[in-house]
Amino acid sequence: MSRLIVVSNRVPDIGKGPPPGGLAVALKAALEQRGGIWMGWSGKSSGSQEPGPLHVEDRGGITFALSDLSRRDLSEYYAGFANSVLWPLCHYRLDLTDYARKDMAGYFRVNRFFAERLRPLIRPDDIIWVHDYHLIPLASELRRIGVENRMGFFMHIPWPSPDVFLTLPVHEAIIGGLTAYDVVGFQTTHDADNFASGLKREGIGGDVGGGWMEAYGRRFRAGAFPIGIATRDFAELARQAVRTAAVRRFADSLEGRDLIIGVDRLDYSKGLTQRIDGYEKFLEANPAWRGRTTMLQVTPKSRTEVPGYAAMQREVAESAGRVNGALGRLDWVPIRYVNRAIDQKVLAGLYRVARVGMVTPLRDGMNLVAKEFVAAQDPEDPGVLVLSRFAGAAQELDGAILVNPYDIEAVGNAVAKALSMPLEERRARFAPMMKQLEEHDISRWCSDFLSVLRD
Ligand code: F6P
Repeated sequence: MSRLIVVSNRVPDIGKGPPPGGLAVALKAALEQRGGIWMGWSGKSSGSQEPGPLHVEDRGGITFALSDLSRRDLSEYYAGFANSVLWPLCHYRLDLTDYARKDMAGYFRVNRFFAERLRPLIRPDDIIWVHDYHLIPLASELRRIGVENRMGFFMHIPWPSPDVFLTLPVHEAIIGGLTAYDVVGFQTTHDADNFASGLKREGIGGDVGGGWMEAYGRRFRAGAFPIGIATRDFAELARQAVRTAAVRRFADSLEGRDLIIGVDRLDYSKGLTQRIDGYEKFLEANPAWRGRTTMLQVTPKSRTEVPGYAAMQREVAESAGRVNGALGRLDWVPIRYVNRAIDQKVLAGLYRVARVGMVTPLRDGMNLVAKEFVAAQDPEDPGVLVLSRFAGAAQELDGAILVNPYDIEAVGNAVAKALSMPLEERRARFAPMMKQLEEHDISRWCSDFLSVLRD
């Protein structure tokens, strides 16, 4: 069996920090099985204008190869091109893109740097799997220095329509970067179709059928590989978590009110202010529910160094404060807003306690919170998922109440419908979603992608 090399911007602290999420666990399992290397950013700054040395460390049969990046790299590659250009572009926020030439140059420079550091570690029959928008040009940089190994890429975030994508000044280099891979995976067929129509629009290639695409005369496999979660493990975690002191204390504090839960990184793609406005509409239109529900919004801070995120933090806090001020009572706070990360086991328990899960991003590649919320439910008395039609997960979770997150009143109506849904309908919606999640879990995703890459 070929060795596997995984490359991603962030590398989980396996065996060090808190237990890693499903993706890290699945990739770790694949690496342990085949032996291999996980390369990426250490998560730290070298504190100078040069990247730090390569730290190579063996942990549990996996070689971790990590580099501190320089302050300039972090500003141009991470905060700059990756998160102030590609992220807003792929989430249809052209108004937030900032096409600074030096950031684009920094992005390609850091990709070249990772390629050069990786090359001496590669053996001839290794297969290389690169993750996400930070590292699109990695394969072309590796090919440029003579690496001929199989290489696959998975895009965790949406791929936009050509009208949006072609506004990117360096779109040719980004497309060229992707077409250097042997397999390119997207979250949904919609994303893969957007990519193929971009190739066609530019007259450089397109979908040639049978899971193949062509560009610049080169053929490669491309298509949808919707990512899953560790469904059974997460369901078990939720079952155990409801018995823990932290979750019981929280459940008691609800004093019999129905819980509506939202859990999102603080990001403008998540539709947080629209969701809070939707909940406000629901309370205004349904006075009988006032004092009988509590919305818990858990929103850890994210990418604080990127302009736009700090403003976002103020806006969400203001929206929650406005609703609490206008509709709250002496003995009832409509929204509890928590601006930090919560332990995964506690979260699993909160999902199971909740009557409604609100996952209403304006645009999202997949959204694993939606999947985890479903997996955490009690099959005898499941809660209801309110899900944005613009999350990749909406393609699979058709038992959710699907909403257009821009339509505030529709969001409010969905909350009302979810809270009053009879048990029989809740069960009928839950069962097929859970079956889908069990059949298409993260280890299946991993092995499906790797088998296409290998073959
Ligand atoms: O899923 C998209 C993603 O950008 C991941 O690549 C990333 O690890 C996560 O969101 C959190 O963002 P960041 O790494 O910028 O903190």
